[in-house]
Amino acid sequence: MGIEITENHLPIQFTSNRAQLVHRWSPYIQGFSSAFVQYVIDKYRPIYKDPAILDPFAGSGTALVQAKLNGFRSSGTELNPLLQFLAETKLNSWHVLPDTVVETFDRLPKNLPKRAPEFLKSDRHFNPPVLRNLELLRGAIDSLPDKEDRQRHLKDLMRLAFASILVDASNLKRTPCLGYDRKKRVADDAPWTLMRAKVLQIATDLSSLQNHFPWTLHTPSNIVLANAMTWDHQTQFDLVITSPPYMNGLDYVMNYKIEMAWLGFVTYMRELKSIKDDMVVCDNVSRGLINDFASSDGKYTNDWLEQIKDEMASNIARRGNYRRPDMPNIVNKYFDDMYRVMRHVARSIHPGGRFLLVVGDSLIADTYVPTDLMLARIGMEPEIGLQLESIEKARHRASGQVRSYRLRETIVTLLKP
Ligand SMILES: C[S@@+](CC[C@H](N)C(=O)[O-])C[C@H]1O[C@@H](n2cnc3c(N)ncnc32)[C@H](O)[C@@H]1O
Repeated sequence: MGIEITENHLPIQFTSNRAQLVHRWSPYIQGFSSAFVQYVIDKYRPIYKDPAILDPFAGSGTALVQAKLNGFRSSGTELNPLLQFLAETKLNSWHVLPDTVVETFDRLPKNLPKRAPEFLKSDRHFNPPVLRNLELLRGAIDSLPDKEDRQRHLKDLMRLAFASILVDASNLKRTPCLGYDRKKRVADDAPWTLMRAKVLQIATDLSSLQNHFPWTLHTPSNIVLANAMTWDHQTQFDLVITSPPYMNGLDYVMNYKIEMAWLGFVTYMRELKSIKDDMVVCDNVSRGLINDFASSDGKYTNDWLEQIKDEMASNIARRGNYRRPDMPNIVNKYFDDMYRVMRHVARSIHPGGRFLLVVGDSLIADTYVPTDLMLARIGMEPEIGLQLESIEKARHRASGQVRSYRLRETIVTLLKP
């Protein structure tokens, strides 16, 4: 396609958000960094004076929170109800008085336990005294009133704080996938001490927002629990800043099952599965879904994608034994899903607006998949109609399959003419 990939080293990983106002309320490490979003906003500030910003894969809300800190309107879609709730709470509680947050926590009753979610292995996830304290905290937060808006915002902040401490209070770690940490020692009263520290952090940030960013408090931001492939936005946007799931990346449902279940977003394992089935696929998607996709009509493909699939199929046949022999169809479904998202989102961009995607490429079954180039090509399909402006390499990553193999993480910028 005659495009040069330029070097532009940028801090695109979420890790740096852990020290940032509001972003740090939820400690998830799969997002991109607020510094990256700020870089994009500053770069395009001279072009779009008061940009409306969209993130179709909003996650825990990095792009939207950063837009709001700049006083810019923003919207997003997100399919995981936990992440949508966290982003919504991070965006729409900036007016809550910091003292009331601390007082609400300090007055929580300590005698209303609510049982741990039953379909999880909670007694393995948590030591018995920790589990009892979590059940007390869960019951106490559930008992808070929520009839009036003011009460609901406070309760949501308590629920967010509770979600943020669950993995820290558990015998697990997130790296970024959830796994047991045998060396970890958790104090019996950790749920209360961790949650108080989180509540103080939130109160400190609310006070900073109210004192230093008062003009942003009521900047509209909305994040809907919806599928980016089908959700119709009511307005048009100047800048889309997003990071889609990576093809052989993280499972955005199973990795959050503890928080989703403890906050009551799911009650059964099958609900987790059904949320996951609607998402852009990851590489442990259900086999049934891929079988159905393989036999369906009208899927997106192109000559280059077919070559990649053929090479992958012959590598899998040569190996004789591969975890997912249906991987070529998983890859096809990934690009089909992304085609649907990009076609839908492109309709909501103003002429002259830009669509920026932070993406990582993959090495799958010894086959190189240049996700950035493929997404650029998809964006230029006639039904989508975007023009490729640049592909910038922000950092190298090691492949999960062959550690010495250098993969890249890039920013693809597409322009709506
Ligand atoms: C790479 S993460 C985005 C993280 C985000 N930038 C942040 O800072 O938190 C991709 C997100 O897309 C969501 N997702 C996957 N498929 C989706 C779909 N079809 N519609 C909306 N959201 C989806 C996942 O749940 C996940 O939160």
